[in-house]
Amino acid sequence: MIEIAIDGTAASGKGTLGKKLSDKYSFPYLDTGLLYRKVAHELIKDNKINTTKLEQTSCDFAMILNFKELKNTNLRTEDVAKLASKIATFPNLRKILNNKQKEFNNSSKKKFGGCILDGRDIGTTILPNADFKFYITASLEIRAKRRLLEKNISFLHENDEKCMLQALMNNMRERDRLDSNRKISPLIPAKDAYVIDTTSINPEELLLKVADIIERKK
Ligand code: DC
Repeated sequence: MIEIAIDGTAASGKGTLGKKLSDKYSFPYLDTGLLYRKVAHELIKDNKINTTKLEQTSCDFAMILNFKELKNTNLRTEDVAKLASKIATFPNLRKILNNKQKEFNNSSKKKFGGCILDGRDIGTTILPNADFKFYITASLEIRAKRRLLEKNISFLHENDEKCMLQALMNNMRERDRLDSNRKISPLIPAKDAYVIDTTSINPEELLLKVADIIERKK
């Protein structure tokens, strides 16, 4: 049974890598950021952001979170990302979501012989004994450019594009800061992780690199 843990910064290429590895090895893949995003999305939808009991309300949503709904909702907005990073500092919320991730891992391994998880604390906290750990990162500018491309916006003026890129860079810098400096399960490479910088490589090259590491050690 094989566990593959992928961690890294936003838009570093870790999600695309997770999906490609899942296709290659036929192991289920979970983007664990979607769990935090889904809870954030529910808080925004139900207008519960300003509640004094934000942690408790987040936990209530997390308890009833259904994995099937992760695909249906638009969880990729900047507002959702920002709030997801904020609530990800709540210890009780992390406990609930950690259990869900571990359950997914155990049932996937039983059924399919392996599992791939990506997030911020997979190699350090969720799967500390993973067979393979990867930490994926890239420069802030290239990550913001990737996010901008994903948004598929046609700009009328070059200045608007520059402004949007700058806003994305600011959001990402702030999110990196929150994710890396929180007390519980901060974003840091596990000691035994392969650290890969994707600033100047494309998703196919990343897959080749990672698959080569896996094949050599398998
Ligand atoms: O991977 P993402 O950008 O979709 O994640 C959104 C936020 O969720 C991220 O800023 C921090 C949080 N997160 C986390 O704390 N732990 C994880 N394993 C995954 C995501």
